[in-house]
Amino acid sequence: MEQATTTTRIRGRILRPERARAGFSRLDDGVITIDAEGRITALEAAAADDPLPITHPGAILLPGFVDAHVHYPQTRILGTASGPLLDWLSATVFPEEARFADRAYAAAVAVEFCDALIAQGTTAASIFGSPHPEATAILFDELERRGLRAQLGLTLMDRAAPGENLLAAEAALAASEALIERWHGRDRGRLRFCVTPRFAISCTPGLLRGAAELAARHDLWIQTHLAENDAEIRATAKLFPESRDYLGVYEDHGLCGARSLFAHCIHLEDEAWDRFAAARATVAHCPDSNFFLGSGVMPLAAATSRGIRVGLGSDVGAGRAFSLRRVAARAYDAALLRSAPTSAEALLWRATRGGAEAIGIADEVGLLEPGYDADLVALDLPPTTSDERLFDALLFALDAGPARATYVRGRRIDRAASA
Ligand code: GUN
Ligand code: ZN
Repeated sequence: MEQATTTTRIRGRILRPERARAGFSRLDDGVITIDAEGRITALEAAAADDPLPITHPGAILLPGFVDAHVHYPQTRILGTASGPLLDWLSATVFPEEARFADRAYAAAVAVEFCDALIAQGTTAASIFGSPHPEATAILFDELERRGLRAQLGLTLMDRAAPGENLLAAEAALAASEALIERWHGRDRGRLRFCVTPRFAISCTPGLLRGAAELAARHDLWIQTHLAENDAEIRATAKLFPESRDYLGVYEDHGLCGARSLFAHCIHLEDEAWDRFAAARATVAHCPDSNFFLGSGVMPLAAATSRGIRVGLGSDVGAGRAFSLRRVAARAYDAALLRSAPTSAEALLWRATRGGAEAIGIADEVGLLEPGYDADLVALDLPPTTSDERLFDALLFALDAGPARATYVRGRRIDRAASA
């Protein structure tokens, strides 16, 4: 075997997500062995006489962050205050997203977007592209080049926005087919296409139905927004009077199933949560965005108590940071406001393993076990951090800088160096 020349070993303090509980086991001095394909072949305590130095002294290693919901064409409007949701979409989002008709603009932002993910230790993301097929292809290209893992979709919208943001249903579905053909499954599944109707308001019934058929035909995941804001919910009810509620619109058009990822899910009745759980749909919890747009406080426990898979989403640019650590800190605040406190440890699990479950990559990443891909992040820890404060220090020290190092399939990926 050629392993001696192709195997990578990384040594350090390690957090290993558990399979069946939102928590971690710890290894104070461990070695992760990774084969030439980027898969973990072993993870064990370092032998006392192992000559391998600590790979990132002072840092802690864990699976890379999974951003379960983020918008590429909102990179440059991150933190633009014009909420609530529908006002912010009209005043800030649609004018910016229209600029992605320009290939050079789209290419420049694709570099910035990938830089931002990598800097924060995000190794995988579920991404809304722009409504422009070329810009979405440009991002696929950049993701491939930079080594990130992602599912990405053309954002489908054929109504309720200025003309330059829209693409008619037939053209949008044909463009999606072409993107699937070129990109879905690329590099052993590192890149995937995800069917992405923006939300019910921006899609005609025909487009919603066409999106569901497209997903079924190619076995694809679907992502969209659900029950984010009161005015949005009222407008949706007006457009779809025959559906029982907002989730019902997606159910009625074939878009709610075990591969459906719904962002926000703030304002759902208990009975809708029961249907959601029965469908085995998943949640992208986006608390920073929810605070910034004043959308409300998502009841995390309503989902987790039903066994629903929940990941964390930055929702940039309504989210004010790409850092999943900051998102997790906001998720802590949100849970406390809902009188159902959670812990930093559970939220760090949601930002890593939970996200992998929520976006459909749980067979590949999110566990540090033989057979899983070595998607990792090394995070700095203040040397004075006690064991008891470890998880709080990782998530709630909002002055923390970027990740020390980010790896996908055992290969270190870097900011702009490769751009
Ligand atoms: N609902 C429809 N589009 C969007 C979007 O771009 N961001 C958020 N937060 N909600 C949406
Ligand atoms: Zn969103």
